[in-house]
Amino acid sequence: MRKLKNESMHLIVTSPPYNIGKEYERRTSNDVYVEQQAAAVAEAVRLLHPRGSICWQVGNSIEDGEVFPLDILLYPIFKNHGLKLRNRIVWTFGHGLHCQKRLSGRHETILWFTKSDDYTFNLDPIRVPSKYPEKKHFKGPNRGKVSSNPLGKNPSDVWDIPNVKSNHVEKTDHPCQFPVGLVERLVLALTEKGDSVLDPYLGVGSSAIAALKNGRHAFGCDIGEEYIQLARGRIQSLRNGELRTRPMNKPIYEPPLKGDQ
Ligand SMILES: C[S@@+](CC[C@H](N)C(=O)[O-])C[C@H]1O[C@@H](n2cnc3c(N)ncnc32)[C@H](O)[C@@H]1O
Repeated sequence: MRKLKNESMHLIVTSPPYNIGKEYERRTSNDVYVEQQAAAVAEAVRLLHPRGSICWQVGNSIEDGEVFPLDILLYPIFKNHGLKLRNRIVWTFGHGLHCQKRLSGRHETILWFTKSDDYTFNLDPIRVPSKYPEKKHFKGPNRGKVSSNPLGKNPSDVWDIPNVKSNHVEKTDHPCQFPVGLVERLVLALTEKGDSVLDPYLGVGSSAIAALKNGRHAFGCDIGEEYIQLARGRIQSLRNGELRTRPMNKPIYEPPLKGDQ
């Protein structure tokens, strides 16, 4: 990150280590973890374009069965840099550990901050189908006209997107990948074509793929040499037109209820 120029990135999107002892991190106290994150966030703020956004995607750290929501621990760091929170997006998914002494966790969050009040936000490319597209105004001057936007509705701040588990089409050897479709929504809404997207904890390059697939420039870093190699391979497959990704707005599979046809 230190090699990159001030204010050169339009979107900085990432999922850092969660301090839970994964193979790519050394577990430490939450205080030290927050200090380490503060150093990365300071660099991210330096690199952020005045119209740009930072999206920090995190879950929980767990210690002796106690849950520490990382977005709550990290929020003050961003506020101390004067950033403004635009959404706290809840990402829900169907698969994960089955807990015995608390409810099984099935969501994480994305803190979306901007540097200023004048920021890029394009809603149309990320609209989702309306539930009742034929619904009409029932009174007033538009009575009888279709009331919903024909391009679809705002996807809201709750996103139900399958996480990348063993049978997911995007699965690699990385233990915690982003689904590409999740990052694509952020790329399409928060940047323009030709803009630059940085993921400081790149892993196997899911953010870079979401950026390149949509005509943006991609930057990233990771301490895992093997992850960078996988990221390079995936980017090459994307360029060859061979990379399989789950479509951004593909509906979630709902098993049929017993008795349904
Ligand atoms: C949650 S994973 C991110 C995965 C990524 N979103 C993807 O789709 O592959 C966190 C990543 O941070 C990397 N990492 C851990 N400490 C780091 C550091 N100090 N600097 C850069 N990367 C680091 C790990 O190797 C790991 O790939």
